[in-house]
Order: sequence, then structure tokens, then C-alpha cells
Amino acid sequence: MTTLTTRTERTAARSGGAGVEIAACSGDALTLRWPDGARHRYDAIWLRDQAQGEAFRHADNDQRLFDVADLPADLTLTDARIEADGGLTLRFEPEGIEVPFDAAWLRAHAYDVGREGAAEPPAGSPVGWSAAALGARVAWRDYAAVTRDPEALFAWLDDIRRDGVAFLSGVPQEPGMVCRIVSLFGYVRETNYGRLFDVRAEEKPANMAFTGAGLGVHTDNPYRDPVPTLQLLHCLQSDADGGDSLAVDGLEAARRLREAAPEDYALLARWRVPFRYRTATTDLQARRRLIETDEAGRPIAVAYNNRSIAPLDLPAEVTPAYYRAYRRFSEILRDPDLALRFKLAPGDLFVVNNRRVLHGRGGFGAGKRWLQGCYADEDSLLSQLRVMERQRLSGDPR
Ligand SMILES: [Fe+2]
Repeated sequence: MTTLTTRTERTAARSGGAGVEIAACSGDALTLRWPDGARHRYDAIWLRDQAQGEAFRHADNDQRLFDVADLPADLTLTDARIEADGGLTLRFEPEGIEVPFDAAWLRAHAYDVGREGAAEPPAGSPVGWSAAALGARVAWRDYAAVTRDPEALFAWLDDIRRDGVAFLSGVPQEPGMVCRIVSLFGYVRETNYGRLFDVRAEEKPANMAFTGAGLGVHTDNPYRDPVPTLQLLHCLQSDADGGDSLAVDGLEAARRLREAAPEDYALLARWRVPFRYRTATTDLQARRRLIETDEAGRPIAVAYNNRSIAPLDLPAEVTPAYYRAYRRFSEILRDPDLALRFKLAPGDLFVVNNRRVLHGRGGFGAGKRWLQGCYADEDSLLSQLRVMERQRLSGDPR
């Protein structure tokens, strides 16, 4: 299936390149001019590395068959021409090979588009939300629809991609359903807590989550590397007083910190701090930054868990300032303006992107509150969304 899709993609791309012109072809680069006036430069080494065709990529899986070190150090682009079908043929020396390229594919992969240091985030970057903003558009999707209708499943998975949190109602109130939900888009990440775990007050709790205490907003398992990137929680029983759930967009909180106190933001984005979870049979440790940034300094992930942050071991001169920054971030995370608050009823389920959205709960007392949770990963969810998008574009109803 991969092969077919890949070939379809490239065949379709070829027809989209009509009208391209060669603006310049030097030994070390090619510049193309497009009908809309745009010009893009491609380095010879980049082009040679992207060579398509069965001599360079495996016919069945499209994987590259050579390493960059296999390419000549004195690689030169000696000729470029446009063929009758709108495709390009490039000649490379000293190998003496001619390589076909789809013009539209080159347009789609142009890289001299001024992204580095740009004020605007790249296309597709998440947009942060406040509680009011998300509350106004949040959708409780229907379990039956999501399992029956690919469009409904797409909408639910897209909620997670866009907002880092998504909701389902009407999930059968049976133990183990949380893992069945994961199978709609990916794979359960089994941990020392098991394939799934029960979140309810226990007599000898292995984690504060398994008590009736309130939990400040946090991301799960920062002591694990790699950290689980998705968490799902399914409500099986809910007749306790209290126990409301909370969700906070950590990227929005980080953005607010950056705006209000850039020096604090810089400290949290610079220093990795230790996290640990330790019992008689477990000793998980990892170091991570509370705020992870992209090359332009924008936040792309957060890790925050007051229960499992270990004794700080930063340089002595950094520690007081780090604590000020840590406290300030914590204060922002507590801002009611950021906290989406909801009460789960039996059959409700929510999922969070554990590198972006923090979750928490109010304490609960008399009565029963029983959730089942499990971890999964975002990579397979995003993969599934991309495949579904591809099928939509090709008109394939699968
Ligand atoms: Fe948690």
C-alpha cells in the first residue's frame, strides 16, 4: 500500500509543475522560477540526496538506498533541463548520472523560504488556548460515531492534533475500553503501571494519583525517557463529591511566561532538571527541561510535575533564579483563565497530549470515582491522520 500511495503522490505531483523555468544552474545549485514569480534555490548536494527512482530508492518502501557519505565530495550539478511533461532532468558529475525530478515535488519541498528566525511560527504550529477559547469550541465527540464513521474519527483525532486535548462520550462502561480506544489510532505504551491503570482511591497507593487527594496540573511521568506522549482517561464510575478534572495548555502558559518574564522563560528552557519516581521495585530517572523550545526559541513542549521533580542539582549561582522562574511558571499554570474545568461522567473519556497539555483534578470525598487510564504515543496518531488526509485527497473512501 505504501508503494502505491507513494507512486500516486509523485505521479500527481508531476502534473502540478507546469510552467516552471530554470532561472540559474551553477555547479553547486539550481534556481527555479515558478509561474507565480516565486524563485527557489536548491543546493546540488541536497538535490542529489533527494534523487528519486529505483536506482536510489527502494521500489516497495521508498527508502533511500545510499548514505550521504557515498556521494562524491566534489559533486557538481552540470546540467538541468525541463522535459515535455513538465518534469526536470538534472545531471550530476563526476558520477555522470541523470536524475529525474517532479517540479511540483521540488516546489513543495523548497527550503529557502525565510523560515529561520522568522517572527511567524511555521505553518501547522499549534495555537495556544485559554479555558474560555477552548471551552467555546470544544466538542464532545460520540464514541459510536467515531468507531463507525472515518470522518468522525478524523475529527476526533484532529482535535488532539490541534488542541492537545480531546473528548469522547458514550464509551461503554467496561473495564479495558481505554485500550480499545487506543487501537483506533495506535498502540498502548505499557509501563510499570501496567498496560492500563486504575485511578481510584487505594489503601496503599503507589502514586498520589491513586488517592482521593486533589492533584495540581501536571504532565505525567517526566521521570521516564522517552516520556509517554499521550494519556487517555476513561471514567467508569463517578458519584463522588468533587473530583472535577482540569486541563491547561502548557504551550500557552509558556508563551505567557515568555511575554511576561523572558529571563525566567530562558532559564526554564535552558536547564534540564532531574525527575525521579522510586519505589521498592522501580527507580525511574530522567532529566528534562520544563520548557522545550524550537530553534527560534518558541515553546514546543512542557514537562511539569511537582510530585516527581527531584532535588535540583543546578550550579549554585543558578539555583535561586531558577526557583524564581519555576515558581512564576507554576503561578501562571494556576491561573483560572487557563484551566478548562469539566466533570467526567461514566462513559466519558479524555485524551491529552502529555508534552503539551497538563491535567489535574480536584480532591474527592465520599462516593466512588473510578477512572482507567493508559498511555500511548502521538506519532502513530499523527501518522494515521496523514494517511487519512492522503486518502481524502485521492478520493479513496477507505
Ligand atoms: Fe496524571
